[in-house]
Amino acid sequence: MDTQVIILAAGKGSRMKSKLPKVLHKLSGKALVQHVIDNCQSMGAKHCHLVVGHGAEMVKSGVSGEAVELSFVEQTEQLGTGHAVKMAIDGLKPDTPTLILYGDVPLTHHDTLSQLVDVHLADPKGIALMTCILDDPTGYGRITRSESGSVTGIVEHKDASDEQRLINEVNTGILCCNSTQLIQWVNQLNNDNAQGEYYLTDIIAMCVNEGNHITTAQPTHLYEVEGINTLRQLAELERVWQLEMAGQLMDGGVTLIDPTRFDLRGQLSCDSDVVIDVNCVIEGRVVLHEGAQIGPNVYLKDCTIGKDAVIKANSVIEGAIVGARSSAGPFARLRPGTELKEDAHIGNFVEIKKSTIGNGSKAGHLSYIGDAEIGEKVNIGAGTITCNYDGANKHKTIIDDGAFIGSDTQLVAPVKVGKNVTVGAGTTVTSDVDDDALVISRVKQKQISGWQRPTKNK
Ligand code: UD1
Ligand code: CA
Repeated sequence: MDTQVIILAAGKGSRMKSKLPKVLHKLSGKALVQHVIDNCQSMGAKHCHLVVGHGAEMVKSGVSGEAVELSFVEQTEQLGTGHAVKMAIDGLKPDTPTLILYGDVPLTHHDTLSQLVDVHLADPKGIALMTCILDDPTGYGRITRSESGSVTGIVEHKDASDEQRLINEVNTGILCCNSTQLIQWVNQLNNDNAQGEYYLTDIIAMCVNEGNHITTAQPTHLYEVEGINTLRQLAELERVWQLEMAGQLMDGGVTLIDPTRFDLRGQLSCDSDVVIDVNCVIEGRVVLHEGAQIGPNVYLKDCTIGKDAVIKANSVIEGAIVGARSSAGPFARLRPGTELKEDAHIGNFVEIKKSTIGNGSKAGHLSYIGDAEIGEKVNIGAGTITCNYDGANKHKTIIDDGAFIGSDTQLVAPVKVGKNVTVGAGTTVTSDVDDDALVISRVKQKQISGWQRPTKNK
């Protein structure tokens, strides 16, 4: 079905006290308005009209749509929600279900949106309005109903009588109606009210006056219709959303040691028996295979952790693949382009960039491995460094299967170390080494017997 969406995002958001336009502030790592766009994409909307105003250029370049055609309309003066919608009407397809959403209400589930469209389609001449019941409705537009219970209009808080302010069914702002009617209605709006604004909410009474009905629907969760006005509200909604995502993961068989100390800022897909300890931050697209264990304070971004692999405390893994039964950390750093094959072990204070570490190979302590291809069952001693950069270009280091690299070795790339080579500790390898050789570059040890240490001057 062909649904189009208008997203209102022109407001300044002055209560955020920030230079960044409100709708670009991030919730779970994604701009508020991008959440709205993505929800529209998930519900199958074809076209999104984004009404921008404050920080228009930033907002335009800060959002994207893959499955939906995204267009921008500018509202240079913020004269009210009705005026904002009016800016978008030229781009609307006639006689099409049209959803109106707010750019600062990020978490409306796509099923909730689809349901609202369905409710509208069941009575296509009317408006489907998303309402909710709040303990404290202060500030919101109140839903007025007739004695028989049908909706007669919305009265804004500032325009409401004391009696109307007792109503706790409020307007969430989200609605769906036919675009041809919407265009007629917004063209009739005036700003004769307490705030001198063009209220979109006045279209409800217009619709009723034409003899049509308003149907209402409620979201499954209240957080779906919560808007952000302050950084405090942003932080609160962030926690609500994190707990929701944590709950879904636990329902899917993931053990979270403490779901209140879990931060997902992207997409996480997990097989069963995955365990995630506290204070992990997960960004981008992360895949954790069966039995993977993630220790405390780990940062994972765009990576895949294999079956029964273990990432120990305080490791940073980005753009890497960790194979089955491999381990990394504590304090390991795997940078983009790293692949640990199976049963590999990377220990503390080891940094690896754009390198492959073969099956069963180990680098246990204090090393830098960059632009390297390391074979199987290689042992890399503490303090080994690939000197991959000559100041202008990067070069490759190749270490073949079974090699033993002594501690404090420098490998000056480009260089290749053959199969089963032994490199003596402290060696600077500057040229290729043949299979099965021992290579060592070290000043001969000198001994001065009976050496007297200097003594401190009196
Ligand atoms: C609006 C509703 C109110 C509802 C509440 C829910 C109206 C008149 N009132 O009130 O019934 O309970 O939302 O949160 O619609 N915007 C523009 N251009 C403008 C004005 C607003 O793009 O000229 C955007 C804002 O950026 C924001 C959204 O529209 O994303 C809502 O505007 P806001 O001023 O917050 O509306 P409320 O007064 O809260
Ligand atoms: Ca508001």
